[in-house]
Amino acid sequence: MSANDAKLAGLNSLGKTYDFGINEGTVGPSVIDVSSLYAQTGQFTYDPGFTSTASCQSSITYIDGEEGTLLHRGYPIEQLAEKGNFVETCYLLLNGELPSRKELEEFETAITRHTMLHEQMNRFFHGFRRDAHPMAIMVGVVGALSAFYHDSTDINDPEQRKIASRRLVAKIPTIAAMAYKYSIGQPFVYPRNDLDYASNFLHMCFSVPCEEMNVSPTLARAMDRIFILHADHEQNASTSTVRLAGSSGANPFACIAAGIACLWGPSHGGANEAALEMLSEIGSVDNIPEFVKRAKDKDDPFRLMGFGHRVYKNYDPRARVMQQTCHEVLGELGIKDDPLLDVAMELEKIALNDEYFVEKKLYPNIDFYSGITLKAMGFPTTMFTVLFALARTVGWVAQWNEMVEDPSQRIGRPRQLYIGSPKRDYIDIAKR
Ligand code: CMC
Repeated sequence: MSANDAKLAGLNSLGKTYDFGINEGTVGPSVIDVSSLYAQTGQFTYDPGFTSTASCQSSITYIDGEEGTLLHRGYPIEQLAEKGNFVETCYLLLNGELPSRKELEEFETAITRHTMLHEQMNRFFHGFRRDAHPMAIMVGVVGALSAFYHDSTDINDPEQRKIASRRLVAKIPTIAAMAYKYSIGQPFVYPRNDLDYASNFLHMCFSVPCEEMNVSPTLARAMDRIFILHADHEQNASTSTVRLAGSSGANPFACIAAGIACLWGPSHGGANEAALEMLSEIGSVDNIPEFVKRAKDKDDPFRLMGFGHRVYKNYDPRARVMQQTCHEVLGELGIKDDPLLDVAMELEKIALNDEYFVEKKLYPNIDFYSGITLKAMGFPTTMFTVLFALARTVGWVAQWNEMVEDPSQRIGRPRQLYIGSPKRDYIDIAKR
């Protein structure tokens, strides 16, 4: 980020004029540096939901929401999804450049060799009720990693940060698969080092000790692509949560657990689960107009889940790849007439041509198609957000590392506009 002193933003407040520097990024909007605002004016900025606030500088991911562009380290998401694989994307996010063949081999080996969990961690799962939501298990078990891997919690040691980062990317599929197996009462399946990242995950989820399982390459490729599409998304709610948690110096496992907790909400990672439930509720193409009407009614809290995005005011580029992946999965599994897909296709058509959705720039987002795809692959809806968390872990870890390495990093501490009672004296309980 370069401060361009020739460009100053002037602020006129309470009759006085103040100047603030404008900083330019490599692409995208510039920012007005208001860090001295309070010192200069005694006032704060007010921006609920941070719709106009850049909380950090970052060189990891760039989104142009108007254009519908998503770049990781400069590379378009469509190219990474089509030509690369998830482990390579992880390397790119963590290190800034695509790996050479040798670098990729070393990284793949390191990830593969860290997939097992400390054996004692198995007991953690058994402390949960069988009907616990797997995201509840994820929050607990990922946070608990800090109790098992003390040798990688010193955030001031770059080597420990590297080991923790790799451990998180390597172990998160094992934890996610165990959360699933626990919920259906099946034995945990250990990772297999001869399988690639996505195939190994499908193996840990769907194989049983009494039978050989051959993972379909098409489904493994689809899983891998789903992971790539969810790997990072700049300063979204969960990533900002990870950064805020990390800004206090908390260890990486605790920070990622905080990110998982934030991701769980239906406005964020929980939307794919909600989108599928909504499609089931709509049930048939004939009922779509009624639900579209409800979504447009200001007095009805109902929203079309899987539509709209804080940043994308154009078609979500990930949704396009997801739509294609969805068709590939349904084709591989021989699902020709899926009623949910019929509803989804028709709903998409209607919403894309409806004045309300067009005017508000509400396009289908990635969650609209990922739910149908994951359901067809055999995952229950409760696992959808878990898969999102699995894939996003690398993004959180990359953003956390960037924050820790940033010399200008300080503890995150937003201010507020206080609207409560001014100072008053305590009233004795007998007089209240
Ligand atoms: N259905 C109907 N109306 C909508 C929808 C929707 N899905 N999304 C936004 N609107 C309307 C909203 O009522 C508001 O109308 P008005 O200006 O008349 O008050 C306007 O569009 C702007 O909405 P907003 O809530 O101010 O926008 P936001 O940027 O705060 O919210 C969002 C973004 C994603 C939370 C929202 O679009 C939403 O709730 N979508 C459904 C949930 C969903 O699919 N979430 C997944 C997000 S992508 C995955 C991820 O990154 O986690």
